[in-house]
Amino acid sequence: MINIENLEYIYPSGKHALKNINLTIQKGEFVAIVGRNGSGKSTFAGVVSGLMKPTKGAVFVNGINTKSKKNFIELRKTLGMVFQNPENQIVFEKVKDDIAFGLRNLNFTDTEIDKRIEEISKTMGIEDFIDSFELSMGQKQRVAIASVLAMNPQCIVFDEPTAMLDPKGKKDIQNIVTDLHKSGLTVVYVTNVIDEVLPADRIVVIENGSIKAEIKKQELFDNIEKMKSFGLEIPMIMDLLHTLKQKGIDIFVKKWSVDDVADNIYAYIKGSDV
Ligand SMILES: Nc1ncnc2c1ncn2[C@@H]1O[C@H](COP(=O)(O)OP(=O)(O)O)[C@@H](O)[C@H]1O
Ligand SMILES: [Mg+2]
Repeated sequence: MINIENLEYIYPSGKHALKNINLTIQKGEFVAIVGRNGSGKSTFAGVVSGLMKPTKGAVFVNGINTKSKKNFIELRKTLGMVFQNPENQIVFEKVKDDIAFGLRNLNFTDTEIDKRIEEISKTMGIEDFIDSFELSMGQKQRVAIASVLAMNPQCIVFDEPTAMLDPKGKKDIQNIVTDLHKSGLTVVYVTNVIDEVLPADRIVVIENGSIKAEIKKQELFDNIEKMKSFGLEIPMIMDLLHTLKQKGIDIFVKKWSVDDVADNIYAYIKGSDV
């Protein structure tokens, strides 16, 4: 789905923000990008989504070179981007106009636009505020995602989409992203909230503009010390089970949701398998 080859990005200021990045993201994969502030995550998201052009190397999305002006519309229909601050993404005050705007830019007809808006508002649960002006940050982020989804992309790049939301808003967006991935969307999810990596298939650690490590979800629990050595925090439920393991209580967990882990602990205490 996405091929990144020898990518370098240098800002006009001379800041060398991305260095020698090589990465392939498969169709349907959920890749979390983590790293400290200033490590290059937003630059990565901007370059991968084609908003910024590589200084060296190339990014291909379904074979489309993001540098190609000719294929720009095709690229926008294939891959969307959701930013940290929904207010930077929402152009119009009214939700409907905002979703329509992106579609109009991609030459959709009015009939198609109306149909898409109806479908997408249902999927995103935003029917109640489709005609309103005043939205909470969380609602705005849903609208931003809806505007991108309306184009029916195969992939969405999220750049810390929950950073500005309250706890309920954060949970909502996390659930939406997980559902989108389950429905087949390719997800590139930039975060510095370690608990948000749990639904990802693979975690890519960026440090100082380079890829420092790639860890598959199944390997994460066995790489806790390595993660810590990168200065990364560990998802709380993993840390808990890791600490229990060091105390000789080895609980086998397949899925890292609170519910699943609780079931496994319960089964351990009761002396049976789940
Ligand atoms: N527009 C810009 N001009 C120059 N340097 C920038 C610009 N945006 C970001 N940087 C620098 O590039 C590096 C990576 O930034 P960024 O990609 O925003 O990191 P992150 O999203 O991981 O916090 C930082 O050192 C940052 O100061
Ligand atoms: Mg950033």
